[in-house]
Amino acid sequence: MRILVIGSGGREHAIIRKLLTSPTCEFVACAPGNDGIAQDTTCVDIFAHTDICNYCRREEIDLVIIGNEEPLVMGLADRLREENIAVFGPSEAAAQIEASKEFTKKLCDKYNIPTARYAVFDNREEARAYVKAQGVPIVIKADGIAAGKGVTVATREAEALTAIEHCFSGAFGQAGKRVIIEECLVGEEVSFFALCDGMSATPFASAHDHKRAYDNDLGPNTGGMGSFSPSPLVSSQMEETIMNTIIQPTIEGLNKELIRYVGVLFAGLMLTKDGPKLIEYNCRFGDPETQAILARYTGDLAKLLMSCAQGAIDREQLTFSSDAAVCVVMAASGYPGEYTKNTLIQNLGNAANVYGVSILHAGTSRAGDQWLSRGGRVLNVIATAGSVRQARYRAYESVDMIDWPDGFCRRDIAARALQLVG
Ligand code: AMP
Ligand code: GLY
Repeated sequence: MRILVIGSGGREHAIIRKLLTSPTCEFVACAPGNDGIAQDTTCVDIFAHTDICNYCRREEIDLVIIGNEEPLVMGLADRLREENIAVFGPSEAAAQIEASKEFTKKLCDKYNIPTARYAVFDNREEARAYVKAQGVPIVIKADGIAAGKGVTVATREAEALTAIEHCFSGAFGQAGKRVIIEECLVGEEVSFFALCDGMSATPFASAHDHKRAYDNDLGPNTGGMGSFSPSPLVSSQMEETIMNTIIQPTIEGLNKELIRYVGVLFAGLMLTKDGPKLIEYNCRFGDPETQAILARYTGDLAKLLMSCAQGAIDREQLTFSSDAAVCVVMAASGYPGEYTKNTLIQNLGNAANVYGVSILHAGTSRAGDQWLSRGGRVLNVIATAGSVRQARYRAYESVDMIDWPDGFCRRDIAARALQLVG
């Protein structure tokens, strides 16, 4: 197979590393990729859907794997399918599951999928009155995609009212013109991934993400500062409950609405005392969850994702090692706010030689023989081992070898996993 991966972060680097070990994969390219990915394979600097289609025809690409949500929401998968190119990733209609919180909430209502109680507002006065009536804690969300920044979990009324003000005053652009106010779910948060082939969904893996910027879950929300997999909370029984109460009804509901879902369905769940409830869906793999998940994956990823794209998942490829995997994200100082750029990173080669460790690039650039930071989230250090404790140890051993004075990371990634496994 000749495969094109769309995206440019650590998630895409993880997918590409795995594809490069896949016996059925002959060639992998990444569009646009990054300088770290370019060390492993071809990167092509194209974004426009027409250019991507042309590239696929010219390079005889058999499968396109779309890593990030923007091209999915913009209909890239539909466009490629019109050209008879196999795609792992949902259509524009199916991607609404991530793009529109209102779409997903309505789907949950109609098909009895457990989620937080909610109300939708186009008017700030009504939104304010609702918050005052409901009390705190309460969750305020801008509808649509607001780069992960559109959510406020408010523990004080003033905080909730400020968040409403923010949305309606245009802080999130069009995404904020409609506001969803939700019941605050209490419990443990889990990322759950199911693979979908257009008809059915199959469980793939579970993980935990660390969303806050600083240790002990303090500081602002980020795209994710680290992850571990599997989740000690997702037993086979819990997996069955999640599939039966959340994932299957979603896929059946979408099918009834004449929407076929092909790709990964990523459920952000709260495991509450009343069972798992949906926080949100994403229409793509999680970043940095995927980096930890794929470190444990032992099947043929090219074959697996192609089988989904072709409409019949190849279950034989659903194999994982029993190891635990931990991923520590290294970010540029200042992230998720204004962050430093073009700062020197050294000793990556030695750090990558720690046993059981691999280093993926999320936002680096190469200048001569030097690595520089380019994005907010810059590097992912992933370690696997027989125990979470050992995997953590290895990951931080490698992190500590990286010489990057302008970078930072959380020191408590997967500490929660240790507490959970006891
Ligand atoms: P989202 O951008 O929708 O992923 O939300 C960001 C984070 O806010 C989630 O990962 C949760 O930690 C939290 N969150 C969102 N909705 C709720 C809710 N209804 N109850 C509790 N926490 C929530
Ligand atoms: N790690 C959360 C996400 O990918 O949205």
